[in-house]
Amino acid sequence: MAARTALITGISGQDGAYLAELLLAKGYRVHGLTRHVSGAGVARLPGAAWREAEIQGRLQLHLGDLLDGTSLTRLLEAVRPDEVYHLAAQSHVAVSFGVPEYTFDCNALGTLRLLEAIRGLGLIGHTRFYQASTSELFGAVTERPQRESTPFRPRSPYAISKLAAHWHAVNHREAYGLFACCGILFNHESPRRGEAFVSRKISLGLARIDAGLQDCLRLGNLEARRDWGHARDYVEAQWLMLQQPAPDDYVIATGEQYSVREFFQAAAEEAGFDLAWEGEGIDCVARATAVPSGSRARAGQVLLRIDPAHLRPSEVPDLCGDAGKARTQLGWQPRTDFRALVREMVAHDRAVVRGAG
Ligand code: NAP
Ligand code: GDD
Repeated sequence: MAARTALITGISGQDGAYLAELLLAKGYRVHGLTRHVSGAGVARLPGAAWREAEIQGRLQLHLGDLLDGTSLTRLLEAVRPDEVYHLAAQSHVAVSFGVPEYTFDCNALGTLRLLEAIRGLGLIGHTRFYQASTSELFGAVTERPQRESTPFRPRSPYAISKLAAHWHAVNHREAYGLFACCGILFNHESPRRGEAFVSRKISLGLARIDAGLQDCLRLGNLEARRDWGHARDYVEAQWLMLQQPAPDDYVIATGEQYSVREFFQAAAEEAGFDLAWEGEGIDCVARATAVPSGSRARAGQVLLRIDPAHLRPSEVPDLCGDAGKARTQLGWQPRTDFRALVREMVAHDRAVVRGAG
């Protein structure tokens, strides 16, 4: 049987890198959309897997952009993929307040451009489509935990753009019969997470403080609560959705919730720091009462301060998902717990920072 063909938009991102690895291991031919401005390129794909796949001609990158419908149509026409994993997006919530029009163009209209290209090329009956929806859709939540039936109450330009994309995918399923699945994924992190997201900012920041390369971390809202899983586990759910007999939408989450403050506390402990919390609100600081042996940081040093610049105009304070449907219908469940996730990220960034020093 011929190898199945997948197209991943956003292959240079966190999820794209893990998903490409997963699909290559399953014998797929993988095509990735990358844009000209990409800084990391495929740097997040581990070297060995990337070289081996390239040698075998099973991984191919193509220039394109969600803002350029022609490039999307041309690529879909050339590749005629069995499966499209649409992961590309302007994915940073805080950034979306600064560039709301761009965010909507990229995330909402970009998705529509892809869907309409699939339809225009007559690929509806051939191509299965995964839409990267998000727990941000629940926003100002109306029930806990959030499940597929929980109403959407988006609270940022990012979430609103993703809401439009979500409904376009659903509408292509209902109106034209496209096999389209929306994965409503809660936060998922990893050592490949972008450095501007809070988990990676913390793991990398602590490694840099330990090495004497950074004085302290400056964060925004410490009390926001998130349901944090591992990206490696979550891309498996993306694949499983497209292997089902019928398309559907699924919440993917761990069902456990921790605050940003708790993430920082756990990461500091994993990095070998003892902490004392002092002050309230924007005056809150975390001070090291003990530091790891060999550290360039010193006992008494302030490791964390609040910087109002990182507070958002509107916040999503409280996310926690119920992935019961995915567990029952996909046989999916997370493998990595919160503490193991934090440990892996802290250990990775310590090794990276020490290696660079
Ligand atoms: P990410 O690391 O930020 O990756 C985003 C990807 O999109 C990158 O490959 C980026 O390319 C690409 N991209 C951005 N703008 C583009 C454009 N105009 N044209 C083509 N490509 C473009 O995101 P992620 O964490 O892997 O998340 C993957 C998807 O899941 C995103 O849609 C995100 O919104 C959604 N999601 C993420 C989470 C999470 O917790 N991670 C949860 C729910 C949903 P460059 O390398 O060139 O920047
Ligand atoms: N990025 C960031 N930087 N967030 C901070 C900081 C900081 O300095 N300080 C506190 N936070 C808080 C944010 O206000 C938010 O409540 C929480 O930490 C998590 O922020 P991010 O890591 O930026 O993630 P997010 O939850 O806003 O969005 C991510 O998850 C969504 C799924 O729920 C992104 O990956 C989205 O693309 C994704 O849809």
